[in-house]
Parts: sequence; structure tokens; C-alpha cells
Amino acid sequence: MTNNKVKVGIVGLGYAGKIHLEILSSLKNVCVLAVSDRDQKLTRQIAIQYNATPCFDFDSLLSSGIEVLYVCTPNAYHAQQTLGAIASGIHVFSEKPMALNLNDARRITMALNEKNNIKYSVGFNRRFSPVYRIAHELLRTEKIEPYVSCVKSVRGGSFVPPWVVDAEISGGFLYDSLVHVVDLIEYLLGSIDTVYCVSNSKVYKGVMDEFVCIFSLSEGNICSLVATCHATWSYPWERFEIIGKHSCLSIEETNTIRYSLGLNKKDKEYNYSHLSNLVKAGYEYQDKSFVRWILGTKTHDVDQNVGLRSLQILEAMSCSATRREPIEVKHISKNPSD
Ligand SMILES: NC(=O)c1ccc[n+]([C@@H]2O[C@H](COP(=O)([O-])OP(=O)(O)OC[C@H]3O[C@@H](n4cnc5c(N)ncnc54)[C@H](O)[C@@H]3O)[C@@H](O)[C@H]2O)c1
Repeated sequence: MTNNKVKVGIVGLGYAGKIHLEILSSLKNVCVLAVSDRDQKLTRQIAIQYNATPCFDFDSLLSSGIEVLYVCTPNAYHAQQTLGAIASGIHVFSEKPMALNLNDARRITMALNEKNNIKYSVGFNRRFSPVYRIAHELLRTEKIEPYVSCVKSVRGGSFVPPWVVDAEISGGFLYDSLVHVVDLIEYLLGSIDTVYCVSNSKVYKGVMDEFVCIFSLSEGNICSLVATCHATWSYPWERFEIIGKHSCLSIEETNTIRYSLGLNKKDKEYNYSHLSNLVKAGYEYQDKSFVRWILGTKTHDVDQNVGLRSLQILEAMSCSATRREPIEVKHISKNPSD
């Protein structure tokens, strides 16, 4: 660390890379040292804009003196670039998903176990969004017990950016988008034991683009999910409804949370729609929390086990959809090679 500044490099300078650049370059304990993108013109332009070193291949980025790598490339490159950084002794923040399959996620976990001084996090920014933090606190303190819940997660399309429609690169709707949702279900509602998932492919041929799932959770709680990527962006495209004993909570996108803690209690509502997307979607708080973890001044909850766990659930969903039967989601083994 130089003058207590964390030296960061970013690979992938598109939508997500620019979000992290904007946040990290505004933090006084961070120096964005080097940037890299397959698009050399973009690399040059961003390097000038942020006074960083342009790197025109991945190896020169790794040897540029960075201590942390932000992996913001399309999903299919996450595992390989993460493993390269870990092998070079560099901490990693990877955009979601951690990898496109459980085996690669396990390889990352094993590599991290071998080098136990390297920190890793994955971009589950919604955990850091104000609405989900309030919900988490209400559930953690048992103000509401999540006996039965339903989640709607629909998207207007799977063609922005263009690689998302290519399942070889993105992993499809499940790995690209629903990875956030399964992480939030566990973050809010508890551990998923079993998933029964029915899926169709009506619009994006060859990709599972419609899902109806039932999750059995710890404590016997239940949750349903209806999801598709061929709806519109009509508000709200995402909604959580959590119901306890005469209590309920609902969240619409990252804008509003409304809850009622009893039959005779007034509803409470918090509305964050006026906040910038960086704040209300949790990106800013997420990056600040990760940097503090790297500096050793705070803990950060989202590590490789969280990333690995999300892939276990996705794999169980995919398997259940294929076999049309309920699948038990095994808990993370202490030995990631199992
Ligand atoms: N957490 C979130 O809310 C969120 C939101 C959007 C995207 N993402 C994730 O961020 C990642 C990037 O998505 P995006 O929307 O920014 O995509 P994008 O297409 O806008 O940007 C990707 C960039 O990576 C570059 N690139 C592609 N392959 C490369 C390689 N092998 N090496 C170096 N550069 C390469 C491209 O030229 C492009 O500039 C994805 O993993 C996506 O899932 C997360």
C-alpha cells in the first residue's frame, strides 16, 4: 500500500467497470493504478481520464504493481482472470457471477485456501442497498419471521450488452441475472435446503428464460420465485414479498421498502428512489466496505463462500429444471474439492 492507498487495477471498462471506476477514484484511500480492456482505444481513453497506466494485455496488468484487481469483464472470463490474479498474489473483487460453473468456483476457493492472505469478494451489490439492508435487519432481529415469501424478478430483455444473449459467455438469464436473486433469498430468508424448478425457453431459444421455482428453506419456511427475461421494464420489474405471523414486508426494486409488524400497527415505508443508482443499488457502499476489508479496518461479509454457495443453488435450479424434480442443495463442504 502506498501512503495507505490501496492500488487497484480494473479489467473490463464497460458499464460495470465504469461504475467501479467512478466510485473507487473518488475514495481517498484508493489509487486506481492501472486499467485494461480488450478495446485498446477505450483503455487509452480511460487511462488518460483517470490518470492510470493503460495495460494492453492481462499479464501486464497483473505485473503493474496493483494490489487489488476488479474483474469487470463478461462472465465467461471471471474464473480465469480471478485465478490469474490469485496466482500473482493479488486480491480480487469479481463482478457476478463468481464463475459459470461450480467446478470453476471450487478451483477459485481452493486457490484462495492455498494462499490464505488473499481476499476475494463477488459483486452482490444489492446486499448493500438501503432497502435490502433494512429488510435484513428486520429479519435478523426477528421483527418479521419469513414463513412464506414470493419473489418476482423479470427483466425487459437479455440483449444489453450484446454478449448477454450468448449463454456461452453469460451463462444465460440464470447465471447472469438470477444469481443476484438467489443470493438475496439466502441473505434475507435463510439457507435454501431444496429447490423445485420448472423452466421454459419460449423467447430466447436454447436458453432457459422462464422460471417458476419453489424453495424450501431452513426452519421449514417457503419461498416462490417467478422470473423471466422477456417481460418489459414496467415498474416494478423486481419485487420481494415476505410474510410472517401477521406481519409482512415488501420491496420494490431498490426504491422502496414497506412493512407492517402487526395487525394493529401502522405501515412504515422508506422510499429511496431519489438517490443515485450508485447508492440505492448498493454499489458505493459495497466498494467502500470491500476497500476497508482490504485495509484491514472492517470485515466484509461477501467472500468466496458466498459466491460458491450462489453457484450451488443455480446448479441445483438448473438440474431441477432439467429433471423436473426437487433437488436438495447441498451445504458448502468444508473441503471445496468434494
Ligand atoms: N452487479 C451488477 O449490478 C452488474 C451490473 C452490470 C454488469 N455486471 C457484471 O459486470 C460484468 C461486465 O458487464 P458490463 O455490463 O460492464 O459489460 P460491458 O460489455 O459493458 O463491458 C465489458 C467490457 O469488457 C471488455 N472485455 C471483454 N472481454 C474482455 C477480456 N477478455 N479482457 C479484457 N476486456 C474484455 C469489453 O471490451 C467491454 O468494454 C459482467 O460480469 C456483468 O455480469 C454486474
